[in-house]
Amino acid sequence: MPYATEENITDLAVDRWATAHDARLATIMTSVIKHLHAFAREVRLTEKEWITAMNWLTEAGQISDDKREEFILASDVLGLSMLVVQMNNRFFPGATPATVLGPFHIDGSPAVPYGWDMSGGIEGTPFFVAGTVRSTTGDPLPGAVLDVWQADADGNYEAQLDVNEARLRAKYQTREDGTYCLRSIVPLGYAIPMDGPVGELISRTDISYFRPSHIHFCLEEDGYERLVTHLFAEGTNYIENDVVFGTKQELITKFVEHDSGVAPDGTAFDTSFVTAEYDFVLQPIEDC
Ligand code: BEZ
Ligand code: FE
Repeated sequence: MPYATEENITDLAVDRWATAHDARLATIMTSVIKHLHAFAREVRLTEKEWITAMNWLTEAGQISDDKREEFILASDVLGLSMLVVQMNNRFFPGATPATVLGPFHIDGSPAVPYGWDMSGGIEGTPFFVAGTVRSTTGDPLPGAVLDVWQADADGNYEAQLDVNEARLRAKYQTREDGTYCLRSIVPLGYAIPMDGPVGELISRTDISYFRPSHIHFCLEEDGYERLVTHLFAEGTNYIENDVVFGTKQELITKFVEHDSGVAPDGTAFDTSFVTAEYDFVLQPIEDC
């Protein structure tokens, strides 16, 4: 093997990593090397800049734990997460589009019945989301699971707090006719975590670090593609410049304010509440 020079180092590294035992790993690693080297050459990366980048990555690792996902956040604000979502969720016409998972999903939310109030008494305006889960054929899907999570009025997810029980998250299931109904509190827009290396980098730009008001869903049904998505409030702040590029027109829905009346779960209110109606459309898994 020749010794490395500025000219041959990329080929040497590519050849070495092409020996990966798994063919896909070899494809990925050789491409990563080519693009990283091309980037370093293009900007004439200095040693000081290189060590700054290494320290930034170290800090991102050090601030991460089983609840904080600084690398996912970095991927989100760089637009990489949304690019991967778009490439892997080429949806059938009419299917509900996917968007970013984000760093705050927690596995194992409790299974709860139709209309259950997942706010657990946390302060906020009562909020109902109701509708039907359907197939792209139009058929309603009974028994589909809707894993739902959201932030509180201060913009905090359970994963950001020191709590021991499920907070503002639950798993609902559609009824025989494909309908679902959840109760929570109205979600508000919030700032992404700015106290780590991602926030430090963003603070050196003009980037708005807010997300528009939304609630998260992960839908699962046998024979259908899993759908990770959100519903966004129509007309809410930051809808045009979501820091993680997650907004999609088809996911923007009216959050209707009521002064009083009967909520979708049948509860009568003499105070205000908010409702949203949304039918999710899942696409069947296609045989290759
Ligand atoms: C979220 O919506 O939970 C989220 C997504 C990406 C980055 C930060 C938060
Ligand atoms: Fe969120």
